[in-house]
Amino acid sequence: MTPKVKTVYRCTDCGAEHPKWAGRCDVCGEWNTLVEEVAAPKVRVGTGGGSARRVGGAESLGAGGTVATTTRLRQVVGSEAERVRTGLDEFDFVLGGGIVPGSMVLVGGEPGIGKSTILLQVAARVNERGGSALYVTGEESPLQVKLRADRLGESAGDVELLSETLLETVLATASSRAPSVMIVDSIQTVFTADLEGAPGNVGQVRECAARLMRFAKESGTAVIVVGHVTKGGGIAGPKTLEHIVDTVLYFEGDSALDHRVLRATKNRFGSVDEIGVFRMSESGLSPVANPSELFLGDRLTTASGSAVTALLEGTRPVLVEVQALAAKAGFGTPQRVATGYDGRRLALLLAVLDKRAGLPFAQLDVFLNVVGGIRMQEPAGDLAVAASLASSVYDRALPADAVFLGEVGLGGEIRPVSQSERRLAEAAKMGMTTAYLSDRGVPRRSAAGIRAVGIRTVGDLFGSLFS
Ligand code: TYD
Ligand code: MG
Repeated sequence: MTPKVKTVYRCTDCGAEHPKWAGRCDVCGEWNTLVEEVAAPKVRVGTGGGSARRVGGAESLGAGGTVATTTRLRQVVGSEAERVRTGLDEFDFVLGGGIVPGSMVLVGGEPGIGKSTILLQVAARVNERGGSALYVTGEESPLQVKLRADRLGESAGDVELLSETLLETVLATASSRAPSVMIVDSIQTVFTADLEGAPGNVGQVRECAARLMRFAKESGTAVIVVGHVTKGGGIAGPKTLEHIVDTVLYFEGDSALDHRVLRATKNRFGSVDEIGVFRMSESGLSPVANPSELFLGDRLTTASGSAVTALLEGTRPVLVEVQALAAKAGFGTPQRVATGYDGRRLALLLAVLDKRAGLPFAQLDVFLNVVGGIRMQEPAGDLAVAASLASSVYDRALPADAVFLGEVGLGGEIRPVSQSERRLAEAAKMGMTTAYLSDRGVPRRSAAGIRAVGIRTVGDLFGSLFS
């Protein structure tokens, strides 16, 4: 393949341009940072030759440019285009109410998590509701896609399929068919003939994504691209892709468990950190209307070391269970293993509990697990972690219908959490009867059926629970 246009190699670190590929950027000295891209034609402005009229400073700065007209904001006409609702409720919810025409969405996730499945369902639904979907498959043959479609409980028969990886052909076809939604599965398989690099390398991925974005904006077709996540967690052809697109959704979950969480990490048309929960079955993914129910489903309420908290995932409160196991350590440094929780935050909490509540963690191995593959990032979950740890150390189960909300400070003090009323409402809905939270954060009006107990420090909490 001979490149038709001039390409250059640019350092992703310092931005220096190189005519040829090299392992190391000789400007900043970084290794493996050169990425191929299409060379931008140099734009020459000005009359040149020093003949430009130079009067004032301002004029000489803009010499040679043309004067464009500006618009007052109130003169801008048009309204937000009608979103395409797929009817796959959780998917629409995470996007902020449906697919925005002319937008570009990146769906990232590990291989096998269900990206192709959900997008085929989306395509089927878009067609069913009067839109048109074009599914571009670069990874699987049309037969494989059909076999998947047959498993789904959707009528996907009318979805148009294009088995192609050359971007130019994809774009030409899309222009002529003008679908309302185009799905590209995956961005790592498409390539443009303008670059020499193999499909999937950073330069190809970036250039293809940029052109797909331009196509979306110009045509009004919504483009959804699949991006595989590499081991390190970034979408391959890395973070640069996230800047280009309008919306980034991550599809996560343990492939051994049957539920999947779709999370928006960037959204130009809605709020971020919203989650949608799905269950994977033999007939595709189905939305889970009540995630708390799912996450608390297998809870063993009589075991020690289990505590429940209400996390805010975007705008939606979700109850999750934290499990702790503190066991007598063998020789050497005791182990600290945390799943779904930050290891350093755990170390900090252990030190606080040791010092302020006299729990002997120096001699104990500690294992912590946030159930259901959820990652607990909010400090509001601290108190539940502390309670589960203490419960395991005392080997006494916590009250089965209690929920713990609070950030734990270095002095062992419990701090209030944001939006406690909404969290309490969700807890009450799930049958919880008591909420332990900061004495400075007891909401004036708490939901019916739940009692809010204000606590000052972790020591006070353990005193009332275990004495
Ligand atoms: P897939 O959508 O191919 O994943 P990705 O595109 O993210 O790589 O999903 C593959 C997994 O989903 C596979 O392990 C089988 C499972 N699956 C079901 O359990 N039920 C179904 O109806 C379908 C279509 C797939
Ligand atoms: Mg796939």
